Amino acid sequence: MAAAPSLLILHPRLTTTLRPLSLIYHQFTVHPSPPTRLLVLSARSRHHSSSTSPFASTTPLNSNSNSNATETVRAGRSNSVSSPPLQPPEYAQKIDVNPPKGTRDFPPEEMRLRNWLFHNFREVSELFGFEEVDYPVLESEALYIRKAGEEIRDQLYCFEDKGNRRVALRPELTPSLARLVIQKGKSVPLPIKWFAIGQCWRYERMTRGRRREHYQWNMDIIGVPDVTGEAELISSIVTFFKRIGITAKDVGFKISSRKVLQEVLSLYSVPETSFAKACIIIDKMGKIPMEEIKKELKLVDLSNDAIEDLLQVLSMKSLTELEEKLGGSGEAVRELKNLFSLAETFGYSEWIQFDASVVRGLAYYTGIVFEGFDREGKLRAICGGGRYDRLLSTFGGDDIPACGFGFGDAVIIELLKERQLLPEVPLEVENIVCSLDPDLQGAAATVATHLRGKGQRVDLVLENKPLKWVFKRAARINARRLILVGRSEWEKGMVSVKILSTGEQNEVNLDDLQ
Ligand code: HAM
Repeated sequence: MAAAPSLLILHPRLTTTLRPLSLIYHQFTVHPSPPTRLLVLSARSRHHSSSTSPFASTTPLNSNSNSNATETVRAGRSNSVSSPPLQPPEYAQKIDVNPPKGTRDFPPEEMRLRNWLFHNFREVSELFGFEEVDYPVLESEALYIRKAGEEIRDQLYCFEDKGNRRVALRPELTPSLARLVIQKGKSVPLPIKWFAIGQCWRYERMTRGRRREHYQWNMDIIGVPDVTGEAELISSIVTFFKRIGITAKDVGFKISSRKVLQEVLSLYSVPETSFAKACIIIDKMGKIPMEEIKKELKLVDLSNDAIEDLLQVLSMKSLTELEEKLGGSGEAVRELKNLFSLAETFGYSEWIQFDASVVRGLAYYTGIVFEGFDREGKLRAICGGGRYDRLLSTFGGDDIPACGFGFGDAVIIELLKERQLLPEVPLEVENIVCSLDPDLQGAAATVATHLRGKGQRVDLVLENKPLKWVFKRAARINARRLILVGRSEWEKGMVSVKILSTGEQNEVNLDDLQ
């Protein structure tokens, strides 16, 4: 049976002997050095043609061959190819080898770390019974036009396609989720519990952990009106943090409800249409001067009294204080209290705190809102989410309650770096298979195919290389076994298997090789 793809993960809080992989995901903080120039040649111009297949022999040779297979030096082949010097084709051009500003390449070591992160996102989502979904990166621009003055609208990568349709690279996943839920209609029973990991694009001012493209892990629950939904979502994020070695001492969640603002604004007869706009303005607190905030709030019909009262409520950090202000019968206080008592039953009370200043910057939230933050205060929000009970109906769907969160890949990597918690995720190919004779290249391919059929990872040496090179490569890929295909063994249907950690070497029949 094929082995499940396992990641060899050496976690700093679980091991003592390993050093953190500090250079990994370096693009999060370090901007690439000045552009290096590369001469691009066509694939054809780089290709050395070969008239015979190196994979000619794929079955054990018959026994009347007289070569000696136990030799440890691979003789008789040379890498030198005498061809005339290549001229760049006419269309060769120099390109900037750096990716566009704010975007990243993922070379293998960074891809391994990304896979490790996504693997944890996936496993946690599945632990909570969520199903994975995905949507196109390119969506209709209309999905993101909400007219509430959100930053995300100005950051949209949007354009007209060749069919004159206005399209945008998705800046978030929630509108796509809403679109798909409406499209599926009643064919999907409620509650829906979906998760997704997708790349999002925002033309953002670059700061630490904020990029022009990032991957977001989302978990959303559609069809649950109660705060049990939010409680479950926060529990899943806590589970994720614990898995990767982050504790309640490192991060916390600030929790509030947009209903707090709604209840304050209703005391001043502020029109319903001003509500989302007021939330977006309040979300800018701390980013722009307070005078500017007040000016903008006045522009959306808030009186001076309403503004002063609102700002006073937004400074509250205790639910008791909030209850004294709003009374205990309103939905805001009731739901928040309920969420905090659910947190106790889940066992994550120490991770959460009430903070009325959290409103979040997206227009569609209607109830509980939360943000994960770094307790040292060095980083921007690690994740954020909340309840958005009216998003589906604003897209023409039924009014179905919904809540969810988005968790980016960039800030969490910064946090892991800060705490020296980046794991080592080494390349690990269990076997390296190498022929000892050019004529046995096909036999080596047979051995590799046999092992891969057993679910073993195999690096097949594809060219004539000295054994010194092969050992070096085996060390680089962390191979456990070196499998040498030599003539005399192969004639008997056998190969030589060397355990690299001990140096122990045995002849093994191909059929018995696991
Ligand atoms: P958001 O707060 O805009 O919410 O983004 C969620 C998370 O994505 C942030 O906390 C951060 O980790 C990451 N993120 C956002 N922008 C960037 C960026 N430019 N660079 C790096 N990371 C970034 C949403 O997007 C909501 N749709 C989340 C949601 C899902 N709400 C309900 N369901």
